[in-house]
Amino acid sequence: MENPAFAERRLVRFGASAEAASIVLDRGERESLWDVDGNRYLDLAAGFGAAILGHGPSAAHDAAREQIGSLTQGLGDLYASARKIELLEALAGLYPEPGARAMLTQSGADAVTAALKTCVLASGKPGVLAFDGAYHGLSYAPLAACGFAPGFREPFAGQLGAHVRFAPYPRASEDMTTVLEVVKAALGSGAIGAVLVEPVLGRGGVVVPPRGFLSALATLARDAGTLLVADEIWTGMGRSGSLLRSIAEGVTPDVICLGKGLGASFPISACVGRAEVMSAWARGGSVIHTSTHAGAPLGCAAALATLDEVRARDLPARAAALGDRLAGALRERLPAALAREVRHAGLLVGVELSSGAVAANVSRRLLERGYLTTLGGRGGEVIVLTPPLTIEEGLLLGFADVMAAVLPEAT
Ligand SMILES: Cc1ncc(COP(=O)(O)O)c(C=O)c1O
Repeated sequence: MENPAFAERRLVRFGASAEAASIVLDRGERESLWDVDGNRYLDLAAGFGAAILGHGPSAAHDAAREQIGSLTQGLGDLYASARKIELLEALAGLYPEPGARAMLTQSGADAVTAALKTCVLASGKPGVLAFDGAYHGLSYAPLAACGFAPGFREPFAGQLGAHVRFAPYPRASEDMTTVLEVVKAALGSGAIGAVLVEPVLGRGGVVVPPRGFLSALATLARDAGTLLVADEIWTGMGRSGSLLRSIAEGVTPDVICLGKGLGASFPISACVGRAEVMSAWARGGSVIHTSTHAGAPLGCAAALATLDEVRARDLPARAAALGDRLAGALRERLPAALAREVRHAGLLVGVELSSGAVAANVSRRLLERGYLTTLGGRGGEVIVLTPPLTIEEGLLLGFADVMAAVLPEAT
């Protein structure tokens, strides 16, 4: 049933006509957001998956508040801050092999850039193999490897290198043999230094690959002398049901990218990798990838507190259990004729509808009823749900009921 408080709010905001389904956000608390008109929404997007602890109060907010009182800006790679060193050590500890190293960056795109640069330095090969439908951010290095939407690349095509090859990304229901053959052929060229892969396509529409895909990819990469980069910016930090999905699948990528939930909505990202790969940075003697705010103490303090909280509350296990129940409820309640497929990995959940236009209509109607969602998939045909990992289960199940009511009206 629709939350009565949301129903009341909807009347305030949208009145009889639902034309103006655009809102201006004002404040947030836990899994709720309010717009400037005082209307309340259940946040099923959590800042594109970043606000894994909700909108506060949270351990990350407390740590950041305390850090604001002591030191907010360090001196990047010149003089580290205590928080930065603690975070680098904590991140290295996430990697299953000894001697791992981490580097801190500012956004997901920055982390992917750093990972790809790492691979060039370590392998000497500039080629990248990426996947259709994948999204890694929009600065130039990740944009060149963006298989998500041609529209992001086309205006800038003249400034993008031709070093990236693309392979299809297999769905769980598909046989991955052909895809692996494409990968093998590409790696056979000898020019590819990095395979860049999302363990689950996030923005690409929550596409979960067949079991064993990542490990088959890791084997092919290793056999070809190519480095494997797992972009865990969306799947990591518990979102997909484990702290790191690649490690949980028994794969040790050469480099792992983290972002989004790492700072629980404070901007910070990172690369963590194998000692001999990451040590390629030391060769030149000078710092050749950095930025003013990378590793700033505020983000580091938030990330340290987030890591502690995610572990203390076992949020990966919670995400796995709640994701199963939400996806189960959606599969049970949504008419199969209208919802093509419900896919999920933990609390990264996607409902594929018949078209982007239908999904946009459903998302707008959900907003009118007080539920904030985003769209994914190449044609925007997937309703993407990435709530805070701390969200109450009852709210998610209530949402499944509302979605079941909205879908026939909006299709
Ligand atoms: C898998 C993945 N990688 C990288 C990025 C880019 O992160 P950012 O937007 O922080 O640059 C995103 C953003 O959605 C993402 O989903």
